[in-house]
Amino acid sequence: MSFEGVDYQSLSVPDAPFADPSRVPAFPAEAVPRHVGVIMDGNGRWAKQRGLVRTEGHKAAEPVVFDTIAGAIEAGVRYLSLYTFSTENWKRSPSEVRFLMGFSRDIIHRRVAQMDEWGVRVRWSGRRPRLWKSVIDELEVAMERTKHNTTIDVVFCINYGGRAELADAATAIAQEVAAGKIKGSKVTEKMIAEHLYNPDIPDCDLVIRTSGEQRTSNFLPWEAAYAELSFVPELFPECGRDVLWRSIDEYVRRDRRFGGVKTV
Ligand code: IPE
Ligand code: IPE
Ligand code: MG
Repeated sequence: MSFEGVDYQSLSVPDAPFADPSRVPAFPAEAVPRHVGVIMDGNGRWAKQRGLVRTEGHKAAEPVVFDTIAGAIEAGVRYLSLYTFSTENWKRSPSEVRFLMGFSRDIIHRRVAQMDEWGVRVRWSGRRPRLWKSVIDELEVAMERTKHNTTIDVVFCINYGGRAELADAATAIAQEVAAGKIKGSKVTEKMIAEHLYNPDIPDCDLVIRTSGEQRTSNFLPWEAAYAELSFVPELFPECGRDVLWRSIDEYVRRDRRFGGVKTV
């Protein structure tokens, strides 16, 4: 399949997971973050540094996405949320938006067999309105095909915005109040959590942002309220499982207190 002249077949495919288990750092299983979120940033700058158009940076990100998934499997991460397209990314040029939509759709289509083989359960987090129907269709095919997989859940955050997610949860709750199902004077944190896009997915433990930017750009404000943050200097196309492992290594040394006081 090709889109706007991109020869996808020439893109490299990373090694399958467990290609070289001796390389995987020995993280204590109980210390590994259960849910990791990655803000995959810096594709445009990577391309610019090489005198290329921005879309070349997005293309260079594809093998890195799959290397990161492989590394997450190897490290024992159970949920991996990948910030792929934000509700704010519609502000970009129509041609870049078109590319990102088509590329996301085609990646899901081309890589679903590989993800299935790896035991990946494909998930989606985001808003339906405005998102290309063809992207939603590919996501639905992939989610259906991989729904019984249990190695890792990979959540593609496409047309995702944290504020949109909370506004959508508030709308759903307001509708239930109007229908008399719940009391408007008793909206609890639990109710909000139950109305997020994927309520079964546990809170995010670690958010990694590449490219040196130190902000979260509307990514998982509810789920990552108590996440550890890891800002890494590499542009996303320069990353891979080693960068993920470095951040996990940093995470396992952190002291998470959740507002309490450590007694040991
Ligand atoms: C991340 O890279 C990919 C998306 C946001 C879709 P960018 O495209 O934001 O790259 P920079 O930040 O401009 O370098
Ligand atoms: C965040 O990156 C969104 C994704 C990685 C999909 P952006 O490049 O859009 O964020 P800002 O504009 O630098 O905050
Ligand atoms: Mg960016």
